[in-house]
Amino acid sequence: MTGAQARLVALAMDLGLAKEKMTEDPETAAKMVADAHGEVKLALQELRDLARGIHPAVLTDRGLDAALSSVASRCTVPGGVRVNADLPGGADRASRPDPAVEGIAYFTVSELLTNVSKHSGARTANVDAWRTGDRLMLQIRDDGQGGAQERPGGGLAGLAERIRAVDGVFVVESPLGGPTVVTVELPWRTRARPPAPEGARLGSGNSGPVRPAGWG
Ligand SMILES: Nc1ncnc2c1ncn2[C@@H]1O[C@H](COP(=O)(O)OP(=O)(O)OP(=O)(O)O)[C@@H](O)[C@H]1O
Ligand SMILES: [Mg+2]
Repeated sequence: MTGAQARLVALAMDLGLAKEKMTEDPETAAKMVADAHGEVKLALQELRDLARGIHPAVLTDRGLDAALSSVASRCTVPGGVRVNADLPGGADRASRPDPAVEGIAYFTVSELLTNVSKHSGARTANVDAWRTGDRLMLQIRDDGQGGAQERPGGGLAGLAERIRAVDGVFVVESPLGGPTVVTVELPWRTRARPPAPEGARLGSGNSGPVRPAGWG
């Protein structure tokens, strides 16, 4: 099942519950509908990515290491992009990040390297990827002119929104004159979505990713 399918199944259940609550407890029902709206947006985003081939075969079959190298080889900086990835990959699916996380990581690096090609004037760029505890870390740097800035509707803003939606961290450091360094932290596993008891919904703000025992 794709991430989007899992989200839609959970959504259908959430909306069913909200429907039951509508008359006797409209306030809770409204809250549940609001949560569902957020989930629908994430599912749409995932479907959009799938449609754009965000999960290319190389990612699914061989993991992030190989997929990042393939993206890097398409970046047009004259000195090339060095990829330094220290991640479990390949056929050992169980040791890999969630497919949704791999997809976001892949999409992030490809968007950032597109920016490097288009805007940076860099000679070289580096992509580092590693695991720290239950986080997947990415760092993308170029030795170009700097000045990268999130602006409404732009690629960087889209990435930031995307990454923060899964409790990730997205930091752009790009002083004028360069260099540009983008640091990304993603949960190794996304928010698990077994039917959550009332008041225990995941992703309601505070902590990092919560993983019930036996999940993943
Ligand atoms: N690596 C970089 N080096 C220098 N400037 C950058 C870099 N990345 C982005 N920028 C600057 O920041 C701006 C915003 O980047 P962003 O990715 O949000 O938008 P975009 O690349 O212009 O358009 P889009 O990503 O929507 O196609 C860019 O227009 C560019 O001026
Ligand atoms: Mg861009």
